[in-house]
Amino acid sequence: MKLLLTGGAGYIGSHTALLLLQRGYDVIIYDSFVNSSYKVINAIKSYLDADGIDYKLKTIKGDIRDKSSLDKIFKDSIKEGNAIHAVIHFAGLKSVSESVKYPLNYWDVNVCGTKNLLEIMKENECYSMVFSSSATIYGLTNSVPISEDQKISPINPYGKTKVAIENMLCDLFKSNMNKWKICSLRYFNPVGAHPSGLIGEDPIGIPSNLFPYITQVAIRRINLLKVFGDNWDTEDGSGVRDYIHIMDLSEGHIDAIGFLMSKESIYEVINLGSGKGYSVFQMIREFELSTGCEIPFLIEARRDGDVANNFADISKAENLLGWSPKRSLKQICIDGWNWQRNNPQGYT
Ligand code: NAD
Ligand code: UFG
Repeated sequence: MKLLLTGGAGYIGSHTALLLLQRGYDVIIYDSFVNSSYKVINAIKSYLDADGIDYKLKTIKGDIRDKSSLDKIFKDSIKEGNAIHAVIHFAGLKSVSESVKYPLNYWDVNVCGTKNLLEIMKENECYSMVFSSSATIYGLTNSVPISEDQKISPINPYGKTKVAIENMLCDLFKSNMNKWKICSLRYFNPVGAHPSGLIGEDPIGIPSNLFPYITQVAIRRINLLKVFGDNWDTEDGSGVRDYIHIMDLSEGHIDAIGFLMSKESIYEVINLGSGKGYSVFQMIREFELSTGCEIPFLIEARRDGDVANNFADISKAENLLGWSPKRSLKQICIDGWNWQRNNPQGYT
């Protein structure tokens, strides 16, 4: 089966691409490389080559806003007699703070880019998509665990673009309920790395998320961690989140593709998380215990837009996809540290 992975060179896309290739899928990665490095492609290839796996991977540099370039990919595949069955749509911009500064760019890339892609899919009769949505769309909800029917209330432009895309996908499905098969996966906090240490997360500049910040403190690229508040209404006063191992998350995409292929037509929104909440202090402790690295930290004021407690109800993913996360917080720390230690400067 042939799959197009937009944004397939990024953090989540690269881990999913590797798994798909290992499992015999034919993969085309389409990425502008605006937030990724070509080195990730070489890392994927070298892992598969070392494993003696016969794989079919094509990488194309391009922007999802470029319709003719997208159209050519679908048409070329049809001409080769090996049409694209489905798209996993990872491509997009994902920084909350950047989206506040440059909202039009976020609406253009995320929303207009997705609209272009859907138009080209329709023209080429490819009707299946797995979309990367985000738990950010639940906003400041305090009712945990968060299930898919909880109120959607995004508080930043990034989250608003994800809601707009989900609405567009739902409308498209309703316009032709015999054809479209669409699944929006609402990710919680993807963290960690491939166990080989060959691919991992490589944020540009100073990380804004907790886990890559911790690994960069551990490798001493950053002096100390700032803990944003120790007076939240949680067990130890620090913020609680749902950290999911990137390999568990990647497996969720393969199950989502299998789920779509088993249906005549479908539209679903599904949470992907670990289903467990861990606090910042628990995360620091687990990282120190699992890796032997000390993480010096300082308590700072709360960060704007943060919530106390946020973790997923994952029963829908378990029931519909037959998926469940298998890896522990300890495994997250070991694999994340392995990647950072092997690649102190990431891909650069
Ligand atoms: P990432 O930035 O590592 O990957 C996104 C990829 O898309 C990058 O390789 C980038 O170069 C590419 N890209 C960006 N704009 C493009 C364009 N116009 N045309 C083609 N390619 C383009 O991000 P990620 O963490 O892998 O996230 C993947 C998806 O999952 C994103 O849509 C993101 O919003 C969503 N998501 C991520 C998280 C997270 O915490 N990582 C959480 C929830 C949702
Ligand atoms: N935190 C710190 N110090 C840091 C970074 C984070 O104490 O340097 C704390 C935060 O206050 C929060 C927890 O660590 O309590 C997790 O913060 P992250 O920034 O890692 O994750 P968030 O849940 O706040 O946000 C992330 C993405 C959002 C996405 C959301 C759900 O940044 O875009 O996960 O998917 F919407």
